[in-house]
Amino acid sequence: MCGIICYCGHKQAVPILIEGLKRLEYRGYDSAGFSIVDKGKNKIVKAKGRVSRLEEKKIGLAMNSTFGIAHTRWATHGKPSEINAHPQTDCANKISVVHNGIIENYLELKKELEEKGHRFKSETDTEVIPHLIEENFDGDLEVAVLKSVERLRGTFGIAVLHADIDHQIIIVKRGSPIIVGVGKNEYFAASDSNALAPFTNKMIYLSDDEMAVLNTSGYYIKNLKNELLEKKIEVLDASEYKIDKRGFEHYMLKEIFEQPESVQNAYRGRLIESEGVSKLGGLEPVINRLKNINKLIIVSCGTSYYAGLLGRYIFENLTELNIETELASEFRYRRLKLDENVAVLAISQSGETADTLAAIKEAKRKGALLLGIVNTVGTSIAQITDAGVYNHAGPEIGVASTKIYTSQLVILTLMALLIGRYQHISFSEGSEIINALTGLPGQIREILSNAKDIKEIALKYSKYRGFLYIGRLYNYPTAMEGALKLKEISYIHAEGYPAGEMKHGPISLIDKNFPTVAIAPDDLTLDKMVSNMQEIKARNGKILSITNSATQKVLGISDDTIIVPKTIPILQPILNIIPLQLFAYYIANERGCDIDKPRNLAKSVTVE
Ligand code: F6R
Repeated sequence: MCGIICYCGHKQAVPILIEGLKRLEYRGYDSAGFSIVDKGKNKIVKAKGRVSRLEEKKIGLAMNSTFGIAHTRWATHGKPSEINAHPQTDCANKISVVHNGIIENYLELKKELEEKGHRFKSETDTEVIPHLIEENFDGDLEVAVLKSVERLRGTFGIAVLHADIDHQIIIVKRGSPIIVGVGKNEYFAASDSNALAPFTNKMIYLSDDEMAVLNTSGYYIKNLKNELLEKKIEVLDASEYKIDKRGFEHYMLKEIFEQPESVQNAYRGRLIESEGVSKLGGLEPVINRLKNINKLIIVSCGTSYYAGLLGRYIFENLTELNIETELASEFRYRRLKLDENVAVLAISQSGETADTLAAIKEAKRKGALLLGIVNTVGTSIAQITDAGVYNHAGPEIGVASTKIYTSQLVILTLMALLIGRYQHISFSEGSEIINALTGLPGQIREILSNAKDIKEIALKYSKYRGFLYIGRLYNYPTAMEGALKLKEISYIHAEGYPAGEMKHGPISLIDKNFPTVAIAPDDLTLDKMVSNMQEIKARNGKILSITNSATQKVLGISDDTIIVPKTIPILQPILNIIPLQLFAYYIANERGCDIDKPRNLAKSVTVE
């Protein structure tokens, strides 16, 4: 994995491929490369590191080619290097392939191909694909690709070209996203719509086991049984993929500051105030089934998992459903009894996370109703679920998720309110939730207007080497998410814990060099939180508290306190996480970290 962009048209391909690769940089990668065909010659340029290095290397290359494929790689098989970067080629250097995903049976295929005389250059799993196509090629690339993908096990989004076949690019999807972009007498393919934004807003989303053949006179789409398919062209709204930093130093900071709007966009048009209920068009097709389910299992990963963890408390509070929240990577291996009375809700920013996809495919097999909360339109999770709700938060470019987390929490609340109003939630309780939701954007603005003070506090803590984050009930997930933000972008160890568990182990870490971030809002858990904070103070631990009340109980035992506005307890985590996002950001910035592209991380994790 990580990003693919292809061009087939009448303009110079290289500038388009480079621009597309730059727009994929946010996904995280370690090397990049492209392949263009010029007068029957396959010209390949690769570079380790950033796309800007690739750009430097292409200088001096005759660039008349008007078709080509390009890739940013995030190493899975074989270290980051030029040789392992994509495109990978066959022995004759005529067939180029870029690939996202993993070929699980590559060792077996490689052995077979080596025995037939193929010579491999890289350590990648991808390289078996061009060799397999070479083996099957008899003048017709389409036939060779079809025969070859039949042999592949695993996940792939691939793009293929052959130097002897003018202006033909073939793409195939199984488990890893790839879409076609339709321009005027020019055609594109990419792993996500952001890469195509400067060129076209007309996209065709391929489903698994579909292929598209692009040439200058058009394109056609087939399934892998070689049957032609009619696919709808989706016209995307510019706001779905507009990317720029709007003067902020980093995308992450910009996205933190976008939260008043992204939170509002999550509930905009989705509230019926006169009835104290929400209205989610995306769930309407399954509403009758939804009314009859007795169990909801939320599956997701990382930050989306922490949103799901809080979702469990929200649903428990507002509905009569049995709720479980599961890490997607664990869920798929469990022996769970699922049936049509169970709904499985996948939460995913990218809509392409391989673990989450695998989990819901397993749930589908067992007959559960599949629901989704997805930010990226048309992606695999959005396609496979029976119904769902989009975040409409615009692209999230910073690898560390911020605005999508708070948006996910709003949508979980809307879903729980919708179901809860068919159950025990009264009109006045529904109205109270709606009032609290519509108050959030203003309250978030208020927190953001204190960013300077939060920065000052963060700088005081930037030299510590480890942190504990604690919270109870609704703010236990806040502690987990706050700690994740800090560790992923600043590389400082941070452990999120339910505060009550502290005395069962992590308290032994506490001393004057190991500060605690305590999320201690004024709710039914406050007194217990204060006791835990006392235990920390008694061991000389420093405390930074996040609270929504200027009570001496908290102020008196905290070294530093950030006070956020107050809302109803189920929504309070949406406000509490904002200073923690800023805290992590300012510490990482102070330490000179690559905030938008933290080391070893990818924005969209399309391998299990
Ligand atoms: C952390 C982060 C990741 C993602 C996780 C799931 O800041 O961004 O933990 O939340 O990889 O990704 P999605 O939501 O795209 O399924």
